[in-house]
Amino acid sequence: MTDHWFEPLADYMGKAYDRYAHTKGTVQEVDHVVATLGLTAGDRVLDVGCGTGRHSLEFARRGIVAHGVDISQRFIDIAVGAAGAESLEAATFARGDARELGFLDEFDAVVCLCQGAFGMMTADGDDALVVAGMAAALRPGGRLALSAFNAYFAVKYHADAEFDADTGVSHERTEIRSESGELKTVDLWTGCYTPRELRLLLGAQGFAVDAICSVEPGQYGSHSATTESPEFLVIASR
Ligand SMILES: C[S@@+](CC[C@H](N)C(=O)[O-])C[C@H]1O[C@@H](n2cnc3c(N)ncnc32)[C@H](O)[C@@H]1O
Repeated sequence: MTDHWFEPLADYMGKAYDRYAHTKGTVQEVDHVVATLGLTAGDRVLDVGCGTGRHSLEFARRGIVAHGVDISQRFIDIAVGAAGAESLEAATFARGDARELGFLDEFDAVVCLCQGAFGMMTADGDDALVVAGMAAALRPGGRLALSAFNAYFAVKYHADAEFDADTGVSHERTEIRSESGELKTVDLWTGCYTPRELRLLLGAQGFAVDAICSVEPGQYGSHSATTESPEFLVIASR
């Protein structure tokens, strides 16, 4: 497994990751994904780039069997600890690289939310590897919920970030906090997308795109894609 620029950031933040505002909408996000993908208790969900496990834990609370994969061992350890603290046997976690998922026809649904690996790498082709692995992991007819940064929004509103028009990657210098509250300035890179690029990328890996909606953390819904939301939520079927 290759090193990833996010791993030292995850090590630094630890449990402080779950204090960020963008992590506070988990229940609403899972409500929406469960309803939209038609998930029921006993279904199996793969959570790609699961972070500290917040979506997988919420699926498991609803009887949905969730397996989270993340490249950060620190985040995986936090997720395993949280599942153990709630005795949530339906949530399991393992360190892994989303570019080499290695599952075959195993899951009823795959979620990749809040830039969970997708959009977190800058090399050409990395996101295509993630999408290919997610397609292979799904049983035929299985469904995907994937969020991606909205390129239009990044260009229009990210005043503190530099947007590379050639690669579609937004670069920002920002502050992160450790568990004890210490601040550190770090670099963040996020791959941004238009709906057209998302349709082309997913279509090339065998997905039928059912909808691309304008969303933001904690406010997932079914509104058509616009330039005005920070993220898009892609709903697709294998
Ligand atoms: C912004 S966090 C989102 C975490 C989680 N999905 C959430 O909604 O809170 C992005 C996550 O993607 C993980 N990640 C980035 N690249 C990855 C890769 N190649 N394979 C697996 N995980 C990766 C990071 O370690 C991080 O936990």
